[in-house]
Amino acid sequence: MDQRPIGVFDSGMGGLTALRELRQILPGEELIYFGDTGRVPYGGRGRETILRYARQDVSFLRSFDLKAVVVACGTVSANALTELKAENDLPIFGVVGPAAWAAVEATRNRRVGLIGTAASIRSGAYEREMEAIDPGVAVVSLACPLFVPLVENGRFRPGDPVAELVAREYLTPLKEAGVDTLVLGCTHYPLLAEVIGAIMGPGVTLIDSGAACADYAGAWLRERDLLARRDVGACRYFVSDSTQDFARLASIFLGQPVTDPVERVEIEQY
Ligand code: DGL
Repeated sequence: MDQRPIGVFDSGMGGLTALRELRQILPGEELIYFGDTGRVPYGGRGRETILRYARQDVSFLRSFDLKAVVVACGTVSANALTELKAENDLPIFGVVGPAAWAAVEATRNRRVGLIGTAASIRSGAYEREMEAIDPGVAVVSLACPLFVPLVENGRFRPGDPVAELVAREYLTPLKEAGVDTLVLGCTHYPLLAEVIGAIMGPGVTLIDSGAACADYAGAWLRERDLLARRDVGACRYFVSDSTQDFARLASIFLGQPVTDPVERVEIEQY
């Protein structure tokens, strides 16, 4: 048993989709969430910048006595996980490995689609991971940069003409490539799952990378008897920009109203 909290971070608020999964799977855990809202988005940035930001994010979270860190951000997981793991003496879970495993297990025709930010796709991390698991799996990958602002502006529900137009434009080549599994390799995409699913069709399995990571981290901690023993764990929220818009955005990603307090962090000091 380990009563210490789990740290979760993302480039912004999107990582709350992973936090929601963690809360569902591990309700007794205390969670500390950091969203780098002052520097979001990471997805269009270069690897060195992503790495610098990610190091600061972890350094802030480590000002708490944590038992593990979950990197909810697809962009950070794809570009900086190796370094973060090497530099920190606590378990650090990213979304790429668990999502790759889930995709390889789900595909029947061994054709997997992958969507994410430009930096995630450019990294080639998901392809490397899937290749190591099953070299026979073909991966068709595509950056979908417009999905993040769409979701942040509440344009993700089925029937939304803008969301549907953009999604059809992006996804048609993947559909034509005949993938039967699609990895949603970005924090924001689970909110578009209904729109994406309707375009890809019922024969295509969608893999939520945050949920896959939460499952993996939960199983890993359970196997080592590192879960907390309490019924309901508290959640603390930190952001690097104004806390004003927190409740609105948090409720989009968590799917319920959020009344918990939020604090501001000077992330450049870490
Ligand atoms: N959190 C990022 C990701 O999952 C999306 C937003 C951004 O570009 O920072 O890749």
